[in-house]
Amino acid sequence: MAFATRHFVRTAASTSSAAATAAAKKLVVKHVTVIGGGLMGAGIAQVAAASGHTVVLVDQSDEILKKSTKGIEESLKRVTKKKFADKPEAGAEFIEKTLKNLSTSTDAVAVVHSTDLVIEAIVENQEIKNELFKRLDKFAPEHTIFASNTSSLQITQLANSTTRQDRFGGLHFFNPVPMMKLVEVIKTPMTSQKTFESLLDFSKAVGKSPVSCKDTPGFIVNRLLVPYMMEAVRLFERGDASKEDIDVAMKLGAGYPMGPFELLDYVGLDTSKYIIDGWHSLEPNNPLFAPSPLLNKLVQEKKLGKKTGEGFYKYK
Ligand code: NAI
Repeated sequence: MAFATRHFVRTAASTSSAAATAAAKKLVVKHVTVIGGGLMGAGIAQVAAASGHTVVLVDQSDEILKKSTKGIEESLKRVTKKKFADKPEAGAEFIEKTLKNLSTSTDAVAVVHSTDLVIEAIVENQEIKNELFKRLDKFAPEHTIFASNTSSLQITQLANSTTRQDRFGGLHFFNPVPMMKLVEVIKTPMTSQKTFESLLDFSKAVGKSPVSCKDTPGFIVNRLLVPYMMEAVRLFERGDASKEDIDVAMKLGAGYPMGPFELLDYVGLDTSKYIIDGWHSLEPNNPLFAPSPLLNKLVQEKKLGKKTGEGFYKYK
């Protein structure tokens, strides 16, 4: 009896310590599900597949997914041309391997059952994202980490639509994903250290340089960039300087590759308005987040920037 008790205690102790070690180990991501095959999702799927992860890219229709896959193939060819300039055979092998790692689906629920990491890159809408995460939470395994690529929504609010707040964080990639080296890894107050470290490791594994930030509006880059662009609009609105001179000044005086108005047109005036309006509603007294009548007018006139042929500037 004494032996049995000792044996039981020893077995139970070793079992629980094995479980504790397993629980303390961070997850090494091998299988990734990317939801949303648009501009960002396709890029994320591409870099994940190119770095040896098994990837399923999900969107709403086969037609969209066909377009995403075609975009990825073209982007891979461009990357390969540079990376394997002197070794075309190695380049062809790289493309083949990458595409082998990538599959597509229109059924997110059916594919998340075996995934380590879900990266959401769908339309920037809180309710639609919440609904997606809530649904996937029921079907994804216990260990699966959820991450959102949102630019302007609170990661905490998205995490709260699930029961896995400790396994939820932000992975904010930049456009175009295959070219831009940065990923902002966002830790909410509920994100576990283990999850956070797994997300950092994953970012490095896909060839990016991660930085970390708390769940604060705009994280690092947009928090600095959006108020800067809005301040340029206010400078122009007051008649202090022309938009052309402001752009020249920031390029030649600050060494920026684009002026703020060129950048606003590139990003899309609707996107910028959406971000600033969201932040303004969170912090109405913050002068950095004040809306701009001129920006609102241009958006109302559907002058959204490069994509519509006119924003602050005209494009042919
Ligand atoms: P996009 O409009 O190019 O692509 C979104 C895709 O999601 C579309 O193909 C759409 O069919 C799909 N989608 C929508 N609802 C879906 C659902 N319920 N299930 C599956 N697929 C669904 O948008 P984009 O630009 O790729 O942005 C995606 C996310 O990435 C947004 O949250 C955005 O804020 C964020 N982001 C965008 C950046 C940019 O420069 N465009 C930069 C960094 C983050």
